[in-house]
Amino acid sequence: MWVRNAWYVAGWSHELAAGKVIARSIINEPLALYRTQDGTAVAFEDRCCHRFAPLSKGRVEQDDLRCMYHGLKFAPDGRCIEIPGQALIPQSAAVRRYPTAESGSWVWVWMGDAAQADPTLVPPSIALSDPGHRLKAGQMDYEADYQLIDDNLLDLSHLSYAHEKTLGLGSPEWANERPRITRLDRGVRVERWLRNQVRGYVRNETYDMWNAYDFLVPGIFLMRTAWYAPGTADRLQLKPPTEPPVFLRCDEQAVTPTTARTSRYFFATGARSGDIDPQQLERMYGVVAAAFAEDKDIIEAQQIVIDRDPTRRMLPTSFDAGPTQFRRVLEEMVARETQAPQRAMAVAE
Ligand code: FES
Ligand SMILES: [Fe+2]
Repeated sequence: MWVRNAWYVAGWSHELAAGKVIARSIINEPLALYRTQDGTAVAFEDRCCHRFAPLSKGRVEQDDLRCMYHGLKFAPDGRCIEIPGQALIPQSAAVRRYPTAESGSWVWVWMGDAAQADPTLVPPSIALSDPGHRLKAGQMDYEADYQLIDDNLLDLSHLSYAHEKTLGLGSPEWANERPRITRLDRGVRVERWLRNQVRGYVRNETYDMWNAYDFLVPGIFLMRTAWYAPGTADRLQLKPPTEPPVFLRCDEQAVTPTTARTSRYFFATGARSGDIDPQQLERMYGVVAAAFAEDKDIIEAQQIVIDRDPTRRMLPTSFDAGPTQFRRVLEEMVARETQAPQRAMAVAE
């Protein structure tokens, strides 16, 4: 199930080097990406309109991309502007161009109706180079439906078990306490207090932690964990804090469906630059990377079991409020997208 009218992360900004063209797949649609001379990211369907050679094997020429099979050249808007040895360029000589945006440290591609591509809908992630933060990034490829990864991120109760030796070490509260979940326009917000927590890989002290994240379509996870002196959660009667934390951890992640059964997972972890030194960040990243390998292991195994008999129904528990609400958001958006063309056809008839 794919929403089309959404910004998908195609890759890190640094992956898209000047003068290079790279191949990506998003919701099973192959793309060729490159930059114009002013740095603007361009995303084309990865198929030359001539004889369907992939444009990702093409060559960047100033602002344009030339197919390196027979040499048709395309402007950044997708129009063919040169056919070697032929003066007349037919109107139909063009490739599909997808809207792009660049924000935080990600290149985003809008996979749906270009007229609806709204740059204000790009989720607000922190750039890796942001001077106010110290972040470290990674990524991994999954042999699984992206929705299983979304589900995982929307239900952090699994930290106490899947990550009992890493992120969830000594922290049964993840599984034992239920977060508050609020519906947003294009996602859900998940918030909770975790009392008396120790994150020894950063600091060997006890804190109350306010853990809050927005999870936005298609799978963008923007989490802040604000650390306070023990007792703060009770003093605030478990209400959201307004006072400044002693430590602010930041986790930014994006899940991109590449095909129906493969996904790419982008992540960065860190904190405000004054809160964490490079060694602490390395240790934190090491724990995060180990935890994400644990997620990949269990989710890919889960996918195999699901595919063995897709008719079997899962058993919902109170853990699943986040995943369930988010799937509802996706379903409603997909329903609106599929009904809109039908309504337009009905009016035309
Ligand atoms: S296939 Fe691209 S120029 Fe022929
Ligand atoms: Fe996890």
